[in-house]
Amino acid sequence: MRSLRTLMLPIAAILLGGMTGGLSIGQTAKAPDAEAKLREFMRAKLSASTEILEGFCVDDMQLVIKGAKQLQAMSEAEAWRVSNDVMYKQFSNEFRQISTDLIKAAEDKNPDRAMLKWVDATVSCLDCHRFVRGMRVAK
Ligand code: HEC
Repeated sequence: MRSLRTLMLPIAAILLGGMTGGLSIGQTAKAPDAEAKLREFMRAKLSASTEILEGFCVDDMQLVIKGAKQLQAMSEAEAWRVSNDVMYKQFSNEFRQISTDLIKAAEDKNPDRAMLKWVDATVSCLDCHRFVRGMRVAK
């Protein structure tokens, strides 16, 4: 029987790997500068995520907490609120809640629970992205 840990890490890695495709909200012509800034902001989620994954890989809960706190802070930043859509807000709230749970589990030194929360968080990334893509198509 493989441990939860051996199963979770490949899953998280696969989920993260699927996230590098382009994603863009709205057709309104933003200034290229603002667009690049937003992109950079959004891409920072990826490095915070890698940090969390690394934390699990080397069993460093401090690193997990650091990455999760960064994600949580980002989700509260002005730049995150690219849409006023109710669903977008709901996805954001969900993501924020999962980040909070992840931080708590890591602080409680409960790596198994933290890992489950990390998978939830990753699924939440993908859910919101799918929604954002749908919004774009609908416009
Ligand atoms: C509540 C919604 C939401 C959640 C949750 C979310 N994202 Fe995003 N993400 C967006 C939006 C919106 C964009 C695109 C913004 C734009 O370009 O208009 C984006 C874009 C990105 C991009 C592409 C940036 C680029 O190069 O154009 C990456 C990478 C990314 N997100 C990673 C993540 C990761 C990793 C997570 C989870 C840890 C995550 N996102 C969670 C909304 C979300």
